Amino acid sequence: MSWRTIRSLTMRYLVPVAAAVSLVAFLGVPYVDHILAGWFRSDVQMRARLVMTSIEDPLGSLLDRSDLERARTYLGRVAGDERLLGVVVCAPDGSRVVRTPLVPDTVLCATDGTQASPGSTARTAGPGLVEVSRFPLLTAAGHPYEVLIVHDLSFIGIRQTSARNFVLAFTLLAACALAMLAGFGIRLLLNHWIRLLVGDISSKRFLDDAESSQASMPVLMEVREALRELEASQRLEIEFQENWTPQALQQVVRDHLKSCPMIVVSNREPYIHNLDGSGNGVVQVPASGMVTAIEPIMRACSGTWIAHGSGTADRLVVDKRDHVHVPPDDPSYDLRRVWLTQAEEEGYYYGFSNEGLWPLCHLAYVRPAFRESDWHQYVEVNGRFADVVAQESHRSEPVVLIQDFHFALLPKLIRDRGVHATIALFWHIPWPNAETFGVCPWKREILLHMLSADILGFHTRYHCQNFLATVDRFIECQIDQEHMTVTHQGHVCRVKAYPISIEWPPRWLAQTPSAEAARTAVRQRWGIGPDVRIGVGVERWDFTKGIVERFLAIETLFEKHPEWIGRLTFLQVAAPSRSKLPAYQALQQQTLDELHRINARFGNPDWQPIVLIGQHQEPAQVFELYRAADFCLVNSLHDGMNLVAKEFVAARDDEDGVLVLSTFTGASRELVEALLVNPFDVSETAGAIVTALEMPRDERRKRMQLMRRTISEANVYRWAGRMLMDVARIRQRQALTRWTAAA
Ligand code: G6P
Repeated sequence: MSWRTIRSLTMRYLVPVAAAVSLVAFLGVPYVDHILAGWFRSDVQMRARLVMTSIEDPLGSLLDRSDLERARTYLGRVAGDERLLGVVVCAPDGSRVVRTPLVPDTVLCATDGTQASPGSTARTAGPGLVEVSRFPLLTAAGHPYEVLIVHDLSFIGIRQTSARNFVLAFTLLAACALAMLAGFGIRLLLNHWIRLLVGDISSKRFLDDAESSQASMPVLMEVREALRELEASQRLEIEFQENWTPQALQQVVRDHLKSCPMIVVSNREPYIHNLDGSGNGVVQVPASGMVTAIEPIMRACSGTWIAHGSGTADRLVVDKRDHVHVPPDDPSYDLRRVWLTQAEEEGYYYGFSNEGLWPLCHLAYVRPAFRESDWHQYVEVNGRFADVVAQESHRSEPVVLIQDFHFALLPKLIRDRGVHATIALFWHIPWPNAETFGVCPWKREILLHMLSADILGFHTRYHCQNFLATVDRFIECQIDQEHMTVTHQGHVCRVKAYPISIEWPPRWLAQTPSAEAARTAVRQRWGIGPDVRIGVGVERWDFTKGIVERFLAIETLFEKHPEWIGRLTFLQVAAPSRSKLPAYQALQQQTLDELHRINARFGNPDWQPIVLIGQHQEPAQVFELYRAADFCLVNSLHDGMNLVAKEFVAARDDEDGVLVLSTFTGASRELVEALLVNPFDVSETAGAIVTALEMPRDERRKRMQLMRRTISEANVYRWAGRMLMDVARIRQRQALTRWTAAA
């Protein structure tokens, strides 16, 4: 125990107890003395009366016979009794007729010759305090006398001293015992409150009024109230902050996360270093919604991004710790590359991630393939990334933001390596219903590993509910549907919707020409005549994106509205993706077949209905296309969010252009001013395209204005800000839990 603790205990407990005992002594002891003296004196007076009663007759007859000698002897024997000092017999004239030897000289008879009225007085005489009791005596012969019976009261002082000592000792002991009992009781009560509070804090239960009212303890209620208010105000601050910027996000990291280290983990790296045909190094920004969203956040917050080094020149540019500073034009964070063998890449990335989980989570009717060897590679590679996270943590307590379905096992594997991190896993693709997910042979392992995260994020509430239903079906745990938490083996995992977005304004915009100039450039590049309207689609060449369906919709449009033949060209960017896989190869072939068939059916040497750009396009080129377009068609068959839709809107600062959007994208929940379509219904899509082409300028402007406002407010900084504020809250709770447990 430290000196400070001892001093604080002394001040808190011992001083008040000592003060209380002193007060009792100061006020109580004289009172006890007084009471005791009163009791002893009345006792002595009673004894004096008894003595008088017993001597009255024998003494009277001896006096009547004037036998004073025998009267003295008789009274001497009576005075042998303990504490009885002696007896004096007074004649009416005040003379002492008989007086036993020990009676002090100062005890005198009444001198006025009158008989004193019977009574008793205490006075100081001879040995100390004495009690003189006076009694009248009338002898049988009728002679009046007065008898003084003198008792020694010195014993009262001795008794008072012992009684005082006893009272003081008892009070002191009782006070100490009471203080200890009270301290013990308070400690028990406090421990109980602390346990309740810790439970509340770690599972957010203080938000629940019903639970709070159960606890009638005023302190607990107050703490809960304070926490509730704090959380509500933080939530309001986040929800209603309109101007989310990189600076606002930096402030969240600085003020709420105390600038703790940030680690992002994803499969796809934000910058791929490749060698071009002539052996020169080129940097490519991959076509990935995940990269589009996370990269601006890393620019704003710094930290380390751990990802698979997949470029042909990636190894050439890293330092000896496999780090490279990026972005290349203005380095602000570290990219840590992880190298995978071909077998690992095939099993973990192509196999389990893209042939298993990707089709499993997307309702695009491509059957998922689950192979045990792929699963083993997936487990292996997740373990490799967990090792790297542990290395990069440098024994600190970082915030680890895990991206996507490639790393479902990572939350638990990181914890298994003893890293004290706050972990959020964001699932960038949809989460299917429980029945669909149930076909995965390793569903339980995946769910259990995911639940080790502190936060599991999805794009929509619907995906969160699907996840909770899946957990409910396959894992024994506690699910709080109201607060969307899952408690498994004491660990609370929060499941929450964070609709992802894009940076606002997108930095590529600065490099993009005006809408007019973009239109001219695009027409020239792709041989599109000045009177031909332009539609665009920008995707990875993926079966979830509905590329074939949109070609069929264009075909239907020309069938139903031949007036558009020769007056509309649809530009489709399809960035080759996962091309090693049979499903993707088949899709590419089918896309090309449909393209050639439709172009052959309606096209002519001067005009093509569909232009396919089957190559990766850098963001600046994509933004030029967005700006040049009359409409953008996003008809994914199933998509977690789809950031192409948001990028198109962001690119249109001329407030023109129409967005045709699939209802099966997360984006359709926010961009309700788009023309919403069922991508499986090609006629409906064709109709929406015609509506877009014929929409008056005013309506286009109004729709675009509203969508731009939505995205400008709900931009990617807000997405990250909301998640990081939740991370900060969890860290505060964890700190409080540690603090209260240590208290
Ligand atoms: C989706 C996934 C991302 C992935 C992207 C591109 O958007 O959610 O995690 O990076 O597709 O796929 P790829 O396999 O090329 O990384």
